[in-house]
This record gives sequence, structure tokens and C-alpha cells, in this order.
Amino acid sequence: MYANYAGMTPIAAPVEEAMHATVVELATRGVGAIGTAIARREAARAKVAALVGVTAEEIGFVTNTTSGIRALALGIPWRRGDRVVIFAREFPANVTPWQRAADVFDLRLERLPIAPWHDDVPRGLAELEAVLRTGVRAVAVSAVQFQTGLRMPLAAISQLCRRWGALLVVDAIQAVGVVPLDMPALGIDALACGGHKWLGGVTGCGFVAIRADVAVRLRPLVAGWTSHGDPFGFLLRGPGLLRADAPIRARADMVEDGAFALAASAALDAAVDLLAQLGIPEIYGHVQRWHDLLEPVLVELGFKSLRAADPEARSGILSFRAPNGLNIVGLHERLGASGIGCAIPDGVLRFSPHWSNSPAEHAQIADALALALRPQS
Ligand SMILES: Cc1ncc(COP(=O)(O)O)c(C=O)c1O
Repeated sequence: MYANYAGMTPIAAPVEEAMHATVVELATRGVGAIGTAIARREAARAKVAALVGVTAEEIGFVTNTTSGIRALALGIPWRRGDRVVIFAREFPANVTPWQRAADVFDLRLERLPIAPWHDDVPRGLAELEAVLRTGVRAVAVSAVQFQTGLRMPLAAISQLCRRWGALLVVDAIQAVGVVPLDMPALGIDALACGGHKWLGGVTGCGFVAIRADVAVRLRPLVAGWTSHGDPFGFLLRGPGLLRADAPIRARADMVEDGAFALAASAALDAAVDLLAQLGIPEIYGHVQRWHDLLEPVLVELGFKSLRAADPEARSGILSFRAPNGLNIVGLHERLGASGIGCAIPDGVLRFSPHWSNSPAEHAQIADALALALRPQS
């Protein structure tokens, strides 16, 4: 029983087949494989765009969430002393790039507490607005908090950002693929998302989505040779095309800086096909029913559920705080030995099932917990 999609997806058979086909093509044709791979990546671009409600021109492929956020954090045309809002207890992928940008561009980071967003959203919004009204260039937040599974009220946050002239940059890796996320409807300016969790791909290919009017204002600080217009012309179409002055594309794919992960891109394409067939609202409903069945099992055993009371604030993640005195590392090991795949990020017990999980699994988890919690002799 595997319920750790918030960690990494075990890849589905069609995804494995897509990767295998790419590897076979590479083994037999070398660089000749690249044409098919580029076509497949363009297909993935359109599908990923549809998944988050933007156009294909607003998608750029990156290695992982971090590289996407880094391109955004370094690409904003900062002025010295600009301020950026980040939040406490965020996954570090959405912290380190902002710290680096702060270091390089002499910015000030304002770290807001996350606690109010769990039990008092109006207070969270009021705290955010109090900082925004004093002048902030960007707000960086995860769509879903990696530890607790809290889904942030992005529409309300973006309204405040609009009102006070701040960009909203979202780490979307714990949402896209399991939680419906319509970027224009939520008012998100840019997001970054790795491919190896809820999307169902593998490490090495994720994406950024950047609103067209935001992309034209970015400075392409992490650009490389494939970020220019017509990057392949000099390799394919004869002499005279090797130039160093072609402009860098002023759209999301400026972040595509060099040779890309061919097999990982093919994997993402196949993975997004699967999600589209199943439908994100249907997947989300399925996962919530799974959570509904498991939650009381753990509460009965004395665990505290961290699931949001507001259904709109729920996600694919269901986490629990263990009863006082319980060794969570030991419990996780014993659950693993019983074949239960879950995680313990910063000490909470986290389950994150996806479309392939069966609602009946709560019984198996209950048995494994009973065994794991038995006093050790
Ligand atoms: C919220 C969040 N952001 C980012 C990541 C991963 O970042 P990256 O794709 O750069 O490895 C994770 C988990 O690994 C996460 O939970």
C-alpha cells in the first residue's frame, strides 16, 4: 500500500513505457532521437497548459520546482531594498531561491507565520495585507503546505496582491495533478511545479507557468543557449546562422536553457495523458473519500488530524500529529515493515494517496497501526 505521492510517485505502466521508448530510440539513433523527443515535449506543453488553465506559450520546462522558482526569483526586475513575503514552515524549495535573490539583489524577506491560515483565515489575510500596504514586490507561497496539507486561499491572497501591486508566485507541486488549480481564475502570476509527485512523471522534468504579460517583464537571468529565438538553426540549416545576438524569448520558455531530459519529458507527457483521462475533480473526490475513511481510524488511536475543517482548504495530503511520547521515526519504520508507504515530514505522519489507491486500504493501515503501536517486548 503506497500513499506517499506527496513524496514521489511510483510511475504508472504507460509512463514507464513512454520512457522506455525514448531510451530505446536514444540507444539506436543517438541525437536522431531528439526530433521525436521535441515533438513529445511540445505535446506535453499543451497538456500541462490545459491542466493549469493557461496557453502553451505560458509554459516553460524546468528540471524541478526549485529551478523554476529560482528562475522567477532571479528574473524579477528588482530594485535595491525591495521586499518579498514568504511564509514560515514552507518547504525549502520555496525559501532558498528567495534567500539567494535577497542576497544578490539586496532584498528584504518578510516571513509571515503560517498558523493563522489553519484556523483563522481572515487573520492571515489581515496580517498579509498589513505587510502589503507597506510596499511588497512579490509574495511567494505554496498552493498546498507540504507538511499539513493545508490548501492556501490563493484567490483571496491574489486579490490582496493585485490591490497592493505585488506579484504572486506559487510553488504548485503539492497541488497540480490532484487538486483542481486554474491559474487565471486564482489570479496567480507565475507558478513552478516539479513533475515527480502528483503529476505522475519522474524527476528531471517539471514546468513553470508564467502569465504572458508577466514574462515580458522578467529578466532572463538563468537563460542559456536554447533560450534564444531559433536556437537550433545553426546546427541544422547550414552556415551563417551561428550568432550570439538573437534575442532571448520574452516568454515562459526563456527558462529552457540547454539540452533537456528527453525521457523525463516523454514521461511527463504520458503522465498528464493519464490525469486528463481520469479528470482532476474525479481524482480529488476519490482521494477525499480515501481520507474520509482513514481519518477516524487514526483519531480513534489518539492521533490529532491536521485536516482542514473547510473542505476548500483540503488537498491530497492527510497528516496527523502523533500522541505525546510516541516515537514517530520508530512508528514509520514499523509501518514500512508492514508494507505501508507513508512519510514523516518534520515529525508529522503524512498519507498522500492518489487515483490508484483503493478506499479499502484503511483497513490494512488500521491493522498495521495496531501492530506497530503494540508495546515492544
Ligand atoms: C512544497 C514543495 N515544494 C517543492 C518540493 C520539491 O522541490 P523540487 O521539485 O525542487 O525537488 C517539495 C517536495 O519535495 C514540496 O513539498
